[in-house]
This record gives sequence, structure tokens and C-alpha cells, in this order.
Amino acid sequence: MKNVVAVVNTKGGVGKSTTALQLALGLSLAGARVWFVDGDRQETGISALTVRAESGRSIIAASAYAHGPTLRAQVTAQAGAYDHVIIDAGGRDSSALRAALTVADTALIPFLPRSFDVWAMEDIAELVDEARSVHELRALAFLNLADPQGADNRDAAEAMREFPAIELLDCRLNRRKAFSNASGAGLHVEEMTRRDAVACAEVDRLAHAVFTA
Ligand SMILES: Nc1ncnc2c1ncn2[C@@H]1O[C@H](COP(=O)(O)OP(=O)(O)OP(=O)(O)O)[C@@H](O)[C@H]1O
Ligand SMILES: [Mg+2]
Repeated sequence: MKNVVAVVNTKGGVGKSTTALQLALGLSLAGARVWFVDGDRQETGISALTVRAESGRSIIAASAYAHGPTLRAQVTAQAGAYDHVIIDAGGRDSSALRAALTVADTALIPFLPRSFDVWAMEDIAELVDEARSVHELRALAFLNLADPQGADNRDAAEAMREFPAIELLDCRLNRRKAFSNASGAGLHVEEMTRRDAVACAEVDRLAHAVFTA
């Protein structure tokens, strides 16, 4: 489907839920019809959106399907009713993750600037390959939780050259409290009372690379 982005990584804690929430909320605040699909049993994303709903903010459509075949069937049937579907595919090599890759047109892969995480990219590259044997899939990676200084970022970018099937985006999210605070409360960084302009610009840039480039 042309409007489905799956935020994936077999590794945990790389910022899948944070990224999925920020992108979904950003699109929704811009007026798009967005559906947030949570494929993680822990339902981090849905919990954050529930906190949002309870605070009286605008709500966005959200569903949780940890069971891969259910996720695939529901997204296939309902994606047409939305401008964008954002899937938080959950951790590990789950059935929801595989299903998400079969229905998405874009796999968005947050990864950490450490060599260990770059190895995890091999898993993803394999899963992307597998999905590509069935349909077209754009695969985009970006650095999350990056440190503003240091050689880590450069090293990670260098290591990504081993994965030509995955495009490394020229944008990243640095480690910023604004991202964790906002996402935990079900808010977009733009909605925070103490707005972090740099965090907002980073999310904007990522959204632009994923949705309009
Ligand atoms: N750019 C960032 N800056 C600061 N904190 C971040 C950033 N990205 C993620 N975090 C924090 O790092 C932790 C892991 O992020 P998140 O829950 O989004 O990862 P995940 O890949 O969804 O994890 P899981 O595999 O457990 O589902 C969270 O506490 C989140 O608030
Ligand atoms: Mg998560």
C-alpha cells in the first residue's frame, strides 16, 4: 500500500515507538487522517495516545494488533480510509514485524550510533530482502539517540555502506529530553509548553525525508 510506513528494527530500545508517535502526531496536527497501528505487545504507543486522549487533546485513530496475520488483514482492509498509516512494528523478530513489512511501502529503521546496533542491521536487511521478494519496499534508516559530537555518527554512517539496499537518510534525531518527554505524554514536540526548537526541526526534517522526498 502506498500510504503505509512501518517503523521497524529487530533491536529493542532504538526509538521505534518514539519515532512512530512523533511522525503520526505531526501528520495529524497538520490535518491528515492518520491511523496509528501498534504491533508491539507492550503497547507503548497506544498507552501514550491514551494519556493524550485523557488530557483532552485531539485524538488520532489507533489500534493494536500484536498478531501478525491480524495486523496484515486489518491494515490491508482499512489503510484506504486514511492518508497515512504508521505502524510501530514492535521489537524482536515478531510476527507483527514481518506482517508490517508485507503491507508497508516504506520501512523506516531507527538505529543507534554504535557498532553493535549496526550489526543488527543485518537482520533487518534480510527481512527487507524477504519482503522485497513479494512486493516493492522502500527502506530508510536514520540515526536516533545520536550524540551531537563524537565519531560514533560518522562510524555508523560508514558501516551503513555495507547495506546498499537500505538508504541512510541525511537527517537524524539527537538524544534530547524533548523527545522522551513529549512521546511519554502522547504529545508532538511542537505541543510542549517549553518548545525545543531544535528537536522540532529534527522531527520536521525526518518527516519531510519520509513523506515528501
Ligand atoms: N531521540 C531521543 N532522545 C531522547 N530519548 C529518546 C530518543 N528516542 C528514544 N528515546 C527514549 O529511549 C527509550 C526507548 O525508545 P522507544 O521506546 O521509542 O524505543 P523502541 O524501539 O520502541 O523500544 P521497544 O523495543 O522497547 O519497543 C525511551 O525511554 C524513549 O523515551
Ligand atoms: Mg516500542
